[in-house]
Amino acid sequence: MGAFLPAVALVLLLTVVLYWLLIATEGVYLGPRVVTWLYDRAASQYEAIKKFDPECERALIGAPLARMLPPGATILDVGAGTLRVARALRAAGAAQQVIAVDRSRRMLEEGRKLLPGAGACHLVQADCMALPLASGSCDAVTFLEVAEFVQNLGAALAECQRVLSPGGVLLLSNRKGWARWYMPGHVRSAEELTRMLEREGFCEIVFVPWQVEYDLVLARKPVRTQRAQDVPDQGQALPAPAR
Ligand SMILES: C[S@@+](CC[C@H](N)C(=O)[O-])C[C@H]1O[C@@H](n2cnc3c(N)ncnc32)[C@H](O)[C@@H]1O
Repeated sequence: MGAFLPAVALVLLLTVVLYWLLIATEGVYLGPRVVTWLYDRAASQYEAIKKFDPECERALIGAPLARMLPPGATILDVGAGTLRVARALRAAGAAQQVIAVDRSRRMLEEGRKLLPGAGACHLVQADCMALPLASGSCDAVTFLEVAEFVQNLGAALAECQRVLSPGGVLLLSNRKGWARWYMPGHVRSAEELTRMLEREGFCEIVFVPWQVEYDLVLARKPVRTQRAQDVPDQGQALPAPAR
């Protein structure tokens, strides 16, 4: 009996810790490989868990993006999951093309099943820290419900900034309310996120209420890049002396 209670307490404690690490925080404290492994395993249940309302998706994601961008524009959906953005655009009758990037192959495959004839959607399995796209090649980048899973958000935002064309738009989500305290160190306040976006050279940053747990955040890459590290020092800026 002496050893029984401590053993039960230990098992309970381990169960709570494992639940928190693997279920509640979806592996974020165990690194990107574990996050991807968990999303691969949960891919077939993702839609049933999230219960997206198609009309809200169309009205709050698809239609605004379709209005903002010309037909044929390229939208990069980073951490695309089950192709939420491509489906919202399709529902809005949009003519933009989507490149969907995600670390989880199974999430992308589930998305393909939900978007029959996904002709205008190109699927790429890759990490958001190293996007396999040329600099300045996208008119918009979406980054929905992904920021909290990334180990270095500043570097991920810099990657989004790199692939955007000058004047391009970034649409991301930011956790709020009680969900802010769920993943300590992985969720930013509106002020912190604004500072991070500004540091990466974004401007026209606007927060819009979206879901109970998230705000939508819009930011623009300036037509002329303004990051501190991009400003040449005076010596470099001077024209070569005439001979
Ligand atoms: C909560 S889901 C969001 C999916 C989709 N954006 C949506 O709003 O439904 C998070 C997605 O981010 C992906 N993800 C997490 N870390 C990633 C990374 N470092 N690079 C690319 N994708 C990542 C996961 O595989 C998962 O599909």
